Amino acid sequence: MRLMIKTDYSGMSEWVAHYVVQKINNHKAETDKPFVLGLPTGSTPLGTYKALIRYCNSGNVSFNNVITFNMDEYVGIPKNHSQSYHTFMWDNLFSKIDIEPENVNILDGNAPDLVKECEDYEHKINAYGGIDLFLGGIGSDGHIAFNEPGSSLSSRTRLKTLNNKTVMDNARFFDEDTSQVPTVALTVGVGTILDANEVLLLVSGHSKALALRHIIEEPINHMWTGSALQLHKKAIIVCDDDATHELRVGTVRYFKELEELNSVQEI
Ligand code: PGA
Repeated sequence: MRLMIKTDYSGMSEWVAHYVVQKINNHKAETDKPFVLGLPTGSTPLGTYKALIRYCNSGNVSFNNVITFNMDEYVGIPKNHSQSYHTFMWDNLFSKIDIEPENVNILDGNAPDLVKECEDYEHKINAYGGIDLFLGGIGSDGHIAFNEPGSSLSSRTRLKTLNNKTVMDNARFFDEDTSQVPTVALTVGVGTILDANEVLLLVSGHSKALALRHIIEEPINHMWTGSALQLHKKAIIVCDDDATHELRVGTVRYFKELEELNSVQEI
């Protein structure tokens, strides 16, 4: 696992956007060979999305032959609700880049058969040959996508009940009113994420510091589902200094030294 420590949120976001752009461009995506990108919602990826929009508008990248799969979606709020992940993605990224609407995949939390919706999602990912790069964030309890503590580390896309901590964390998007936060969601599984060719997690701020420690320094544990990344053949975590506050000084130095040695990025 690679850990990139950037000074601040802006440096982290710029690094990740540049990395994604290089990945798409190096893939030389064409209609019959699209680049398949997994995407998260949340406050953490917003800086990356802004930078990707800038790269797209300046002609440095095109999303024309990029297929996206989002990680998750709430159940029980309309697609056009201001806090649905459909709305989030269209407002913060898709409406501002040159992606074809039919190439965007987001789970439908209002599908008549939610189990089938999840199974179809897995089949569709497989039909494209899997995900080339899955971007993600982590929750303060170490969850990836909505794989809450205790989730199976081989889980697939499914219906998931959200725990109190996640509901409280997400209340900031629902006028701080926890009663309005959906308590059920559809989410890709930990196994779905691990199947991607490459996984890149963004981690920013003190509130994620304990989770980052569990993911980087502690053993793989289903109570911190992000720690499953230790099993992945190509995982990168990009964080800011604030997120490293619970790591050992030696761990931070170790990864910083590695990145200095490795400063020619292996993209
Ligand atoms: P955040 O959410 O980026 O808004 O902190 C991340 C997550 O819960 O996965």
